[in-house]
Amino acid sequence: MSVDVNPLTAPSAHDIRTWHQVRSAALAYDRPGEPAPSEAEVRAELTVPGARSRKLLWLVRGARGEGVATASLRLFEDPGRRHLAEGLITVHPAHRRLGTGSRLLATLTEAAAAAGCRSLVTEVAAGSPGEGFLATRDFVPVLRLTWLRLALDQVPDRITKLPGEAHPGYRLAFWEGVVPDGLADSFARARQGMDDMPTGGMDVGEVAWDAERVREIARVVARRGERLLTVAAIAEADGSVAGFTELVLPADGSSRAQQYDTAVLAGHRGHALGLWIKADMLRRVREDFPGITEIRTDNADDNRHMLAVNTALGFRPLRRTVEYQLTLRPR
Ligand SMILES: CC(C)(COP(=O)(O)OP(=O)(O)OC[C@H]1O[C@@H](n2cnc3c(N)ncnc32)[C@H](O)[C@@H]1OP(=O)(O)O)[C@@H](O)C(=O)NCCC(=O)NCCS
Repeated sequence: MSVDVNPLTAPSAHDIRTWHQVRSAALAYDRPGEPAPSEAEVRAELTVPGARSRKLLWLVRGARGEGVATASLRLFEDPGRRHLAEGLITVHPAHRRLGTGSRLLATLTEAAAAAGCRSLVTEVAAGSPGEGFLATRDFVPVLRLTWLRLALDQVPDRITKLPGEAHPGYRLAFWEGVVPDGLADSFARARQGMDDMPTGGMDVGEVAWDAERVREIARVVARRGERLLTVAAIAEADGSVAGFTELVLPADGSSRAQQYDTAVLAGHRGHALGLWIKADMLRRVREDFPGITEIRTDNADDNRHMLAVNTALGFRPLRRTVEYQLTLRPR
């Protein structure tokens, strides 16, 4: 089948609706029972620029204007990640095996190479057609992930008691949105604590964290209409952030929250701070946001420590995904 692949520069309400239809139909087919994103979530995803990254979009329509496929390519703008691109292609189930996916992949690959990228990465469901599709096109699997779900009415009793327990030398802090000025620099340093997270053979580049960057991320979340909550462990010796965990509450009143980053700085590990801060986040969400009934997170399969913390909190495996990577020759 010959399809026209045109870039989408300023998505209209109609484009966003069509994009949402393709995504929802693919999700219902590929992962039956999984709730689809709302149209508002898709609008935010397509129209709110990320922190130091931009997105190129393509929407393929059929002869009658129906949605056939979507593709997006995220290009990073910070110096340590300019060589990276993240892609995602979704073909409507009624239009598969007709060459559209291949056509879009060629488009993404070309656009990424033209932008000077050396690596193109994409996440697919383990064992899905996407794996076969990528494997025959020189992509290699670089990281295996498990997505986990925590039902908030099934948090173990032991975990609900943890926030009340003292951790000598540390205290808990909480903020919503942008980090308070007094903690901004040490929070940025703590984010560097994510750097030794296992990422397999995946090219993740390098991010230089500073106070302005952490503020920027909080502003992007707010622009999407979502709420960013952070719990931190503060070292009483010098008032610095020793570890933190972030949770994002949805914009559209849905009941699913998304775990963002969690890290404990190397010098503060071994004091069970990770479990403490995450248990305190659960307590707050259950008390202050009763409409939230579950949390989702993803975990690299070889990140044993994070997996152990998440399992203790009551998270259970939901599905598995694989990050695939293609090495490009930049133009
Ligand atoms: C993966 C996906 C994009 C493929 O789209 P598509 O339009 O069907 O792809 P094509 O028609 O170009 O297929 C090209 C080749 O991929 C492989 N392939 C695609 N679907 C396959 C399947 N279900 N089983 C085995 N191989 C498959 C085949 O080699 C196929 O060539 P063939 O039809 O000549 O045998 C589509 O199934 C999809 O949207 N899946 C969900 C999202 C996803 O996994 N995206 C991939 C990450 S970017």
